[in-house]
Formats: sequence, C-alpha cells, structure tokens
Amino acid sequence: MNYKIAAIAGDGIGPEIVAEARKVLDKAGEKFGFTLDYTDVLMGGASIDVHGVPLTDEAIEICKKSDAVLMGSIGGNTSTSPWYKLEPSKRPEAGLLALRKALNLFANLRPAVLYEQLKGACPLRDEIIGDGFDMMIMRELTGGLYFGERKTVEENGVKKAYDSLTYDENEIRRIAKRGFDIAMKRNKKVTSVDKANVLDSSRLWRQVVEEVAKDYPEVTYEHMLVDNCAMQLVRDPKQFDVILTENMFGDILSDEASMVTGSIGMLASASLNETKFGLYEPSHGSAPDIAGQDIANPIATILSAAMLLRFSLDQDKAADAIEAAVKKVLEDGYRTIDIMSEGKTQVGTKKMGDLIAERIS
Ligand code: IPM
Ligand code: MG
Repeated sequence: MNYKIAAIAGDGIGPEIVAEARKVLDKAGEKFGFTLDYTDVLMGGASIDVHGVPLTDEAIEICKKSDAVLMGSIGGNTSTSPWYKLEPSKRPEAGLLALRKALNLFANLRPAVLYEQLKGACPLRDEIIGDGFDMMIMRELTGGLYFGERKTVEENGVKKAYDSLTYDENEIRRIAKRGFDIAMKRNKKVTSVDKANVLDSSRLWRQVVEEVAKDYPEVTYEHMLVDNCAMQLVRDPKQFDVILTENMFGDILSDEASMVTGSIGMLASASLNETKFGLYEPSHGSAPDIAGQDIANPIATILSAAMLLRFSLDQDKAADAIEAAVKKVLEDGYRTIDIMSEGKTQVGTKKMGDLIAERIS
C-alpha cells in the first residue's frame, strides 16, 4: 500500500518536528507494510517568503489530491516578524484558516491527556489530578467568529471594528453528530459548551445539540457555559470526556486544557471533513524563540501522525505502535527540555525522534 501525504513543515519549529514525525511514520510503514510519498507544501510565513501569500491555489490542490496532510506549525513572532507588517489577510494565520475552509475541515479533535509519566509536569495539585484525566475537545473549525464578516471603519473620527459570529443549524448539527459519535467510542459523555445566557448563536447551538442528543440515548450530555467551563477545567478536569464547542471557545479552551496536562508539547490534533481525509498538526504553535535549536518536543507532531494513520489511512496497528513507542520512551526516562524533570535524561528533537522510531515494533 502506498499513500500520498502533503507535508506542510511551516514556520518556527515546524520543519524540525515534521522531520521527526516523518521519520517515525516511515519506520511504522516499514514494520506494517506500507509506504508514504510526501509532497512538501509551503504555507504560512514560508509561503509568504517565496510567493508573497500565505497559501497558494497550487498548495490547496496538492493537499486535495493527497490521502492526508501532515502539518507542523505556522506563524512567527507577532511583534518582530515582518510577516505581521502585511495586511491581516496576507499573514501566516490567514493561510491556515483558508486551508481549513478550502478542505472543509470542520471537525477539530484535540485530545488532552495527562500522561502518567508526566504527572509531575501538571500544574494542578495531586488531589485534583487523582487518577489523571483524558478528554477530547471537539472544536468546530470552519465557522463562527473566525470566518464571519469583519471590518474596521472610522465613524466621526472614531475607529470601530466589527467581527461577526454566525452559525447555521447545519454547521452545528454536523459537528454535534461528530461529537456524539466520538463520545460513543469513549466514555459516552458530552459537555456542550456555549454562552447561551448571552449569545443567539449559542442558543441555536444548544437547541441543535439537544435535537442531535436524542439520537444518542446512551450518551449523557450536559450544557455548560464557557466561563464556567474555563473554571471547571482547572477545578476538576476529570469530569470531562468530550467537550463539544464552537470555534473560538474551542481555540481558547483547548489551550487551557493542554496547559492543564502540563505538557502542551505532547498534544496532537486532527481536523477532519465529512470523509476520511484530514489535516494533522500538533496543538501547540510554532515557538519561533526556540526554532532551529534542536530542543523542541516533536511528540505532539508524532502523535498527530499516529492520528493520521488511524483516521485517514485505517492503519490502526501502526497508530497503536507509535502511541506505545511514545509511552515507552517516557517510561525509559527520556525527556525534551519542556517536560524535563530531575533524574531523567534530557534529549533534543532529533534524538527524541530516533528513540521513538527505534521503539516501534
Ligand atoms: C490554533 C491556532 C489557530 C487558530 C491560529 C494560528 C489561526 O491558534 O490552531 O488553535 O486560532 O485556530
Ligand atoms: Mg489556538
């Protein structure tokens, strides 16, 4: 079996971490009898430097013709990078948003898991951590505030900016179904997060989620206001299984959830459309301050590659093997600097990739 993968290395630490994920994917292919053909695709700042825009039509076409997209991270330092002198629609992030829209990647899965071996990195107290936690943030990714109409005008000498938050019921229904489907494969609990005490879009969200919930009698569901959810994530993260929420709330809550695990460098993500196709990237950003130093943690990207095998290529055994290799490397005491603790062995990005690849069996 041969698969076509579009590889977007991106900016900052992106190229380093994608190289390690490819190393691990290739090793998994050797073991499980498949090969991967990568086509490098420029996006974000890397594309601006070459083409003057963060995403070209050619780049979108290559992604569309692939079986899946593997991505590192995009963007630079927003106060010092020349990319941020460009108008907003030409900046690195606009490329990622446009790609998500072009590929219709409406369902963003962000697992936040506390690794037993990394409990020490969790900023919460032991009694809150308990036996650990394992939640899936299901974020709507192609609607809401990030895709609504926006403009900045001047009225009577006063500048005024508009961003609009729009959802139609179909957009809500398809992500809600995905959320409940995923819950059926997990602990059968959905927490739908909104701001229905204020926003119309949230009131519609709540109504549609209730309709969808009727088709999933085995799933327990609840509604939670987003401000309360932000608080509950640090008060008692164990209560969550699937958090289902709209684009901006999911953006914010997923960063919070990843920090709660103590290891944002460990968390993968998948962005899926209606088919098996998806884009896989770490939940963290491009960390330009540590780029090129061989110190970035490649594990989030490696685990994203495992999700790619599972969701887009149906190579579940290879995905299991990668996840097991990551656990093993942690058990064996290897750490990148972000998750380093006393008595462990600190390694760089490349070495971490090698150690994980070696453990795939
Ligand atoms: C993320 C990022 C992006 C987002 C940015 C880079 C546009 O924060 O993937 O969470 O807001 O979706
Ligand atoms: Mg974000």
